[in-house]
Amino acid sequence: MKSSVIEIAPGTYRISTFHPDFGLQFNQFLVDDDEPFLMHTALKKMFPVTLAGVSSVLDPTKVRWIGFSHFESDECGALNEWLRVAPRAQAACSFVGANVMVNDFADRPARALADGEVLEIGRHRLQFLSTPHVPHCWDAGLFFETVDRTLLCSDLFFHPGDVEAATEADVVGRAREAIVKNKSGPMGKDMPYTADTDPTLRRLAALQPRTIALMHGSTFRGDGERALLDLAGVIRETLGTP
Ligand SMILES: [Fe+2]
Ligand SMILES: [Fe+2]
Repeated sequence: MKSSVIEIAPGTYRISTFHPDFGLQFNQFLVDDDEPFLMHTALKKMFPVTLAGVSSVLDPTKVRWIGFSHFESDECGALNEWLRVAPRAQAACSFVGANVMVNDFADRPARALADGEVLEIGRHRLQFLSTPHVPHCWDAGLFFETVDRTLLCSDLFFHPGDVEAATEADVVGRAREAIVKNKSGPMGKDMPYTADTDPTLRRLAALQPRTIALMHGSTFRGDGERALLDLAGVIRETLGTP
């Protein structure tokens, strides 16, 4: 496996590795600034590939923040490897994530972020949004880079395949197809539909992102508000009814 790296917004890099066993891309996002921020570590077993991708952009020992949405191996499985490589690195996640999972799992304590709290990392600002159960897990949250309006959306808009790095085409249709296809399979119960699901997606849409950085699939460039409202409709239709 090998990572491919492109800049998706000024100073924000998509480090993408296609994993043939899963048939999907694992995408990490590196925001290069005074305090470099890495969104997702990818799987622990992918650490050497991810490290090589990050090293092609900056000195990996300088990584300061490791953000992720929720406690799963593709989100933070290589956290301890990163904490070893980068002596100043610290996980940044939700209060629940830090206190229920990460502070036991990780070799150094995480910074627990409150809903709406902003990490000022230099030119870029990363706002943490608490989004329990969106895309899934109690501890879930997302980051929004407010200067260039990039939403780091984790598993939202999930679509498989070794797809193009970035697109202005319809990612909602691809996400719908994946949800419908997965629904009856062993991975089909990934997203519970709760009373908070639709308001959370509407809150994300109101941020009006210009770029939506998907963990699995192509980065979307275009009308992020429309894409998120359309995704909310798809999720309501496919998961919100029995
Ligand atoms: Fe996930
Ligand atoms: Fe994921």
